[in-house]
Amino acid sequence: MESLGVLLITANVGSLCDEPEEMEKSWLQEFYKTVQDHQPVFIALHLQEFGGKTYQENMGSAENFIRRLMQSEEMSQYNSIQSFIDKDFTQAEKFTALASVYFIHSSLRSVHIYDFQEKNFVPVSGHTMWMGSLEDCPTVHKERFPQDFWLEFAWTRKGFMKTRWLVNDRMFDLVNLHLFHDASNLVSIDCSPSVYSTNRRRALYHVLTRLKDDCNAPFFLFGDFNFRLDLKSLIQAQGWSSSDRDGHTAVYEQDGEVQLIMKCKRFEHQNAKVFQDENEHMLLRFDHEPIPFLSELTEVQISFPPTYPFSENVSKPSEFMGTRCPAWCDRVFMSHAARALLQKGKHGETCVRYGRIGGDVCMGDHKPVFLYFEMETVDQPEN
Ligand SMILES: *[C@@H]1O[C@H](CO)[C@@H](O)[C@H](O)[C@H]1NC(C)=O
Repeated sequence: MESLGVLLITANVGSLCDEPEEMEKSWLQEFYKTVQDHQPVFIALHLQEFGGKTYQENMGSAENFIRRLMQSEEMSQYNSIQSFIDKDFTQAEKFTALASVYFIHSSLRSVHIYDFQEKNFVPVSGHTMWMGSLEDCPTVHKERFPQDFWLEFAWTRKGFMKTRWLVNDRMFDLVNLHLFHDASNLVSIDCSPSVYSTNRRRALYHVLTRLKDDCNAPFFLFGDFNFRLDLKSLIQAQGWSSSDRDGHTAVYEQDGEVQLIMKCKRFEHQNAKVFQDENEHMLLRFDHEPIPFLSELTEVQISFPPTYPFSENVSKPSEFMGTRCPAWCDRVFMSHAARALLQKGKHGETCVRYGRIGGDVCMGDHKPVFLYFEMETVDQPEN
């Protein structure tokens, strides 16, 4: 038996800080630090909104970012790196802006990736960068949500992308995912669950059905789920009263004191207690979106602050932006079969760590999230 350290990371890289070069430097430093802290032999990095919000102009530099990462001194012990970048934004019906990068340590001898066309596993070695719409890439399966999924909402570049791995004797799928966001705070607050949450639920059921149809391998599903807190329940639980509501603004107060002012894209909490740092665990009680999926998905207990929406001002890296209610958008879920692969020590899942990256530096409006665990495998002789 051999125990392998596995590090899964998800990061939405759609927004840059006001100083992009400085942000890239600190982003990479935080990434390398997480790798050095855990010394994994297998790393999966799932990126969403690759190329940023102005991907038409930024795709070239985003691509170079992956090149620098692959060639960096810090990652030189990972002699096999496979990257899949959905970068062809001219294919409007297919573009998801997802990018997945997998690093395999030189000590790991038997790693295979699945060829979905030939339906067999092939050994991986060296650096490979697949780029474009990835339609012809045999070792990745990508789907964008169909354009007619929701007629009532305009949305773009959302979908999922899957690779299948055989590491020693263990087979598992790694799925990168980006679900729909909340467009207006005022619509979010109308009902519980919100219409956006209901849409995400449908999309996630769709993804799970697609995964089940295809072999039903144990899977890790990590990306930007865009899970938001149940705003209506949260506000009701505070006992605030609505003092003003028109088509553009909602104001909530308690004892004559304004607690929260909301507009379509503004979320200003006036020092309301529930949003202060020490109360972040209280907010987690309103994280309802995973609940309908608990029979199919599981997650390690969250013990870190929300991952979104952070200030893009490099001098305020740990401040929330006053646009949306703080939420845990970025998550690592897994099937129950995959959970069983997390090695159990004498004291349960002692070596498992689920956390947030870059709490004190500007990483864009999302903080990346990681899951580290050890997986027991039977070493396979190279043949
Ligand atoms: C960032 O925050 C600092 C400190 O509050 C402020 O002086 C500066 O103008 C801000 N930068 C931008 C680009 O808003």
